[in-house]
Amino acid sequence: MSCFRGFETICQADAALAERTWYKLGGSARGLLTPTDRVQLGALVQRCHEQGIGWRVLGRGANLLVGDEGFDGAVICLSHKSFATLTADGERLTVGGGADFPKLIRAAINRGLVGLEALAGIPGTLGGVVRMNAGGRHGEMRQFVESVELLTSAGEIELRSAAQLGFSYRHSDLDGCVVLATTMKLAKGDPAEAMQRHREIWNEKYASQPAVSERSAGCIFKNPAGQSAGKLLDESGLKGTRVGGAEISHKHANFIVADEGASASDVLKLIEIARARVRAHANIHLELEIEVWESSEAERNVTWKSQASKSDRMINAGRGT
Ligand code: EPU
Repeated sequence: MSCFRGFETICQADAALAERTWYKLGGSARGLLTPTDRVQLGALVQRCHEQGIGWRVLGRGANLLVGDEGFDGAVICLSHKSFATLTADGERLTVGGGADFPKLIRAAINRGLVGLEALAGIPGTLGGVVRMNAGGRHGEMRQFVESVELLTSAGEIELRSAAQLGFSYRHSDLDGCVVLATTMKLAKGDPAEAMQRHREIWNEKYASQPAVSERSAGCIFKNPAGQSAGKLLDESGLKGTRVGGAEISHKHANFIVADEGASASDVLKLIEIARARVRAHANIHLELEIEVWESSEAERNVTWKSQASKSDRMINAGRGT
């Protein structure tokens, strides 16, 4: 894959993505890249920018449906430990975007820093949680974010305050950026109490939702203002509706679970059936909460070619060569 000259050791061509998502569905990425530090990541994003290659960041794949055709671009994975560092300063924690969010909640509690347990049961990396302002009945991520250090689509590092991140319900303006690190302001509190609250919220969530062992991507649709998507889907009689190996959960109608033999296109068809039924029943258009990776026509048509470029110089400068 000559367009990623200089990145050979961290680039896997035609990499299966299904096994990297909770859904375990979908095709491959043309290139899967696992940078080992910020310099390499910056150079990589710069290279994609120069060559017009589409790219996405893969976290834990918990809120993601990869299309059966896969993604005809570069998938960047921040699984290296250098993207999961944690520094504490009083009630503030600054943590790398690749850090595992459920582990971070427990690490914060163990340091006597509380608040994040309101988000118990949300899987993913910190970057993914911040980017979609993940949350639920007990809170959402933006309550804790002070600032984010990010990499723009042109490969530049920027520090943005929470006010500059355009947070709203399940949304931020971080699309097209990589979350390098997030500074959170938590509160000092009793670890035992926070752990107890963590357990209660976790139990409450999984009493009403499919088990973690079931293949899903969490809630499929966002809640429309003042309404519950799950309730609307349920009232539209959709529980148990099946396409191929995909089924609208009997336990919570805003989940589509995948069984043996399911394909991504089964899930996508079920999404359209559910949307049409809720439109007919309640005249409401449901917006997707999950992310769907399918290549655009333009991304499919990009030729990956070899090219000496500014990103080569960035890699070399970073390595002191
Ligand atoms: N309901 C039904 N039928 C259903 C599902 C729900 O009648 O099939 C009713 C419930 O009885 C309840 C209301 O709808 O009265 C709301 O349901 P729930 O408490 O389950 O909350 P939700 O709004 O459906 C939100 C988040 C979840 C989060 C929960 C709990 C969204 C889209 N969903 O669900 O987040 O876990 O609150 O905090 O904001 C996710 O983001 O992937 C996710 C699952």
